[in-house]
Amino acid sequence: MSLVIRDFRPDDVGALVETLNDEWHFDLYGEGWEEVVSEYVLEYVRRSDASRVAELDGTVVGIATVRAEVHEGDMAKVDELCEKYPDNPYYRDQRTLDHADAMLRSENDLTGLGEMVLLIVSGRVRGAHIGRRLMDEASSLLAARGCTGMHIATDTECNYGFYEHLGARRLGETECVVQGKPLVRYLYRLDF
Ligand SMILES: CC(C)(COP(=O)(O)OP(=O)(O)OC[C@H]1O[C@@H](n2cnc3c(N)ncnc32)[C@H](O)[C@@H]1OP(=O)(O)O)[C@@H](O)C(=O)NCCC(=O)NCCS
Repeated sequence: MSLVIRDFRPDDVGALVETLNDEWHFDLYGEGWEEVVSEYVLEYVRRSDASRVAELDGTVVGIATVRAEVHEGDMAKVDELCEKYPDNPYYRDQRTLDHADAMLRSENDLTGLGEMVLLIVSGRVRGAHIGRRLMDEASSLLAARGCTGMHIATDTECNYGFYEHLGARRLGETECVVQGKPLVRYLYRLDF
């Protein structure tokens, strides 16, 4: 088995959309979901200072994207999409999550911390330390940009136990409704 961690390329999007959908079932949003989620992966990459994928035997099986500073203005894009497509539940849910994250960030001092923007490993290869490799890579990328740690927005639909296992500390939490179901959104910090 050969694992390579390399820079993201636009042609990785297809494999990543499949991985994201296996986890979070975006297809339940109905027709057009693939296009929307593809655009969202690209938006996460654009928001990030560095994006690395994990390739196992030539197949993309995960991604980590990070940025050294938070730019709250990013939400303007999601707000714009919500206004343009008021009936689109995907954009509505993304706005709910973005606003929950902004609220949690505003309540905490995140000075010196970068941000884990997106982290996922395919369900087919979990438990093989690929997530840990991507986290190490993310930490190195942020440390090289002068960060002393990272903050992570996650929730009860994610594997936040992984971050706790690596030593992350929960800073706050807030309740939301996403895909019609209640979830708790968390903010964590992990110091290097
Ligand atoms: C989080 C995620 C990336 C971890 O990837 P992974 O490759 O399966 O994780 P690893 O094999 O590298 O695990 C690293 C360590 O964390 C531990 N770990 C993983 N999940 C854990 C959990 N829920 N509770 C406690 N420890 C956990 C592993 O046992 C391993 O321990 P060790 O290194 O001491 O042996 C993966 O579970 C995932 O993609 N989940 C869905 C998406 C998600 O939740 N993303 C995160 C934020 S939104």
